[in-house]
Amino acid sequence: MSKPLNIGMIGYGFMGRTHTNAYRQVNKFFDLEYQPVLKACCARKEEKIKPFAENWGYESYETDWRKLIARHDIDLIDIGSPNNTHKEIVLAAAAAGKMVLCEKPLAMDVAEAKERCAAIEKAGVANMVWFNYRRVPAITLAKQLVDEKRVGKPFHYRATYLQDWTIGQDVPQGGAALWRLDAKVAGSGVTGDLLAHSIDTAEWLNGPIRSVVAKTETFVKQRMHAETGKVEPVGIDDACMFLAVFENGSMGTFESTRYARGRKNFNTFELNGETGSLFFDLEDPQYLDYFKYADPKSGEKVEDHLTGWQRIHVTNSEHPYMDKWWVPGCTIGYEHTFTNALSDFLKSLEEGQPPVQPDFRSGLRTQMVCDAVLASAKEGKWVDVADFG
Ligand SMILES: NC(=O)c1ccc[n+]([C@@H]2O[C@H](COP(=O)([O-])OP(=O)(O)OC[C@H]3O[C@@H](n4cnc5c(N)ncnc54)[C@H](O)[C@@H]3O)[C@@H](O)[C@H]2O)c1
Repeated sequence: MSKPLNIGMIGYGFMGRTHTNAYRQVNKFFDLEYQPVLKACCARKEEKIKPFAENWGYESYETDWRKLIARHDIDLIDIGSPNNTHKEIVLAAAAAGKMVLCEKPLAMDVAEAKERCAAIEKAGVANMVWFNYRRVPAITLAKQLVDEKRVGKPFHYRATYLQDWTIGQDVPQGGAALWRLDAKVAGSGVTGDLLAHSIDTAEWLNGPIRSVVAKTETFVKQRMHAETGKVEPVGIDDACMFLAVFENGSMGTFESTRYARGRKNFNTFELNGETGSLFFDLEDPQYLDYFKYADPKSGEKVEDHLTGWQRIHVTNSEHPYMDKWWVPGCTIGYEHTFTNALSDFLKSLEEGQPPVQPDFRSGLRTQMVCDAVLASAKEGKWVDVADFG
């Protein structure tokens, strides 16, 4: 039986497009009861949101998110606007009893994240944070291999998230598209924007991080602000590196920057365990590299003259999500990770408990690690993540 689910999408930018594409595609590929209906989208400027609504097939549009939330014909509010707008929208949507899908990072800081999480849980509404990388089939497969104990006792987790688009001194801060450089809007720099993804993936695969020590750097100290036209101090971290100790005793290194010339979205991780290792690179997303040292069941060593890293082309129908897409050997891309995530959310509505992950509580957990990292960088010492809960 088909159940319509009326969507109210906030933002028409990068994420406005990826999410809307997912709403349009999900029922074409996944067999689901819930059928998203593109009821309304919202942004402040009519001249921007009207053509977006027409292009993507929304039935209507609003220029004030409060009006969108007040509408009785909207079931779900999807937040694809900059980080400083998430708070008020989440609180109002939860109070109105709407389901909430929120872009990452969940909040500007942990205090806000806690408030939001409490509001959502009090309202008892379905929710999810769009940490879409969990739905890259190769990363979901990595999780499956960890759960199947193919990595064994973990020793090391190593993550990088590198880009290069803010190196120029003349890149302004603030305003459309460049709000990520303005700390008042973004909350932090690469820590909240990029490392939040790395931390979410790391904790999903390797369990909670216990403590961290970090160093951040702001290479360009002043930039022209696009809205005021004045040169203003830059408050974000351009780069951040941190060491981590996981609850399971393994050690982690994390590095993120927007100053790695030539790196565009170099989001990688490697996990080294007693019986195997895993490696993934988002710039080569259809592959998962696996090194098998011992059989996961017998523990027997399999090392011989053929031992070596195995490159798994994650496109077979037995791989996560891939039976819903094309024939083996044909790849899917970035946009499909949002459709995969949405399908899991809609499935969880159908099936009730347990709630889909990552939910707001999981987003709060990532925020705790981000806050611990930034506090450590300020204080120059190891800090416990639990102190930020
Ligand atoms: N999951 C991911 O991989 C991923 C990738 C990129 C961005 N994000 C997150 O998504 C969010 C949006 O990022 P983006 O890259 O799409 O930004 P963007 O600048 O491309 O788009 C932001 C949109 O928000 C709208 N907006 C701004 N203020 C608003 C307000 N008060 N009311 C209504 N609309 C408003 C803008 O008009 C624009 O349409 C951020 O929280 C960001 O961290 C997540």
